[in-house]
Amino acid sequence: MSETEYRVTTKVADLRGIYFCAALIASDGEHEERNLKAGGDETGMMTATRSFFNQRADTWDRTGAAERKAVSERLIHGLGIKPGSKVLDVGCGTGLIIPWLLQEVGAEGRVTALDIAERMLWIAREKHERPNVEYIHADISHTPFLDQSFDEVVCHNCFPHVSDKETAVREMFRVLKPGGRVSICHNERRQAINAMHHGIGRDVGGDMLPDETEMKAMFTRAGFQEIMLFNKSDAYMLQAYRCAQRRVSRGSGKDRFLPVKERKAEKAEIQLDG
Ligand SMILES: C[S@@+](CC[C@H](N)C(=O)[O-])C[C@H]1O[C@@H](n2cnc3c(N)ncnc32)[C@H](O)[C@@H]1O
Repeated sequence: MSETEYRVTTKVADLRGIYFCAALIASDGEHEERNLKAGGDETGMMTATRSFFNQRADTWDRTGAAERKAVSERLIHGLGIKPGSKVLDVGCGTGLIIPWLLQEVGAEGRVTALDIAERMLWIAREKHERPNVEYIHADISHTPFLDQSFDEVVCHNCFPHVSDKETAVREMFRVLKPGGRVSICHNERRQAINAMHHGIGRDVGGDMLPDETEMKAMFTRAGFQEIMLFNKSDAYMLQAYRCAQRRVSRGSGKDRFLPVKERKAEKAEIQLDG
């Protein structure tokens, strides 16, 4: 499909307006249908993770310390997301970071909030129904978006819960535009996150954030470049870019493609100790 823009045309929504089934059309008229169907089994989303978060959706906003949320707000504002950007909020939950993303992208930008747990999405949508926010019920490993749809992919406090991380990272790469960036962020350091999940046990007891070597290797395998990772006392951030490519003719008919740095890496401006 030549057009990079995606548009959800068939909005098969539940009463709360969450899109379960999406047919996608590019502006050149080509259609692409992707694996989103109403109901659980057909989506492959009848997972323990989905039901764990669905069960906690109603009380989710009462959990989490205020100071941790303040760290999250600083992290999101520190990303330097440009006005007008199209941002994918992966594992949006009840929409904690949506207002901060909206402040960054402005009226010309767009936030697409995606979650595997529909009850989380219902609450997010009730709280933040705006013309430039849409809610998609999908697993990040199999999304309905066309290639190169987003400027930014932000995954806040979600990555450890993604069951097929390797596929998810490849999907993040696929939906990013050349020059686009992924940010995996947490309002705690890796060791604290993993200890917390271990302590909760049950369906999230094994949901771990891999160590630095494994994370960097996974993002490299997916094609990302300029991978930056910090893991400090009150925050964790991995950022990586989908670099554009330029064709270099070798005269033999076998062209090579080299990465082009489209923009300078912008490090999160959060103050960290440790
Ligand atoms: C700990 S909550 C964080 C929610 C929100 N980002 C926040 O910071 O408050 C993790 C969220 O990720 C979602 N999630 C887990 N695995 C997912 C997947 N494979 N695809 C999409 N969402 C997923 C869960 O349903 C849950 O809402």
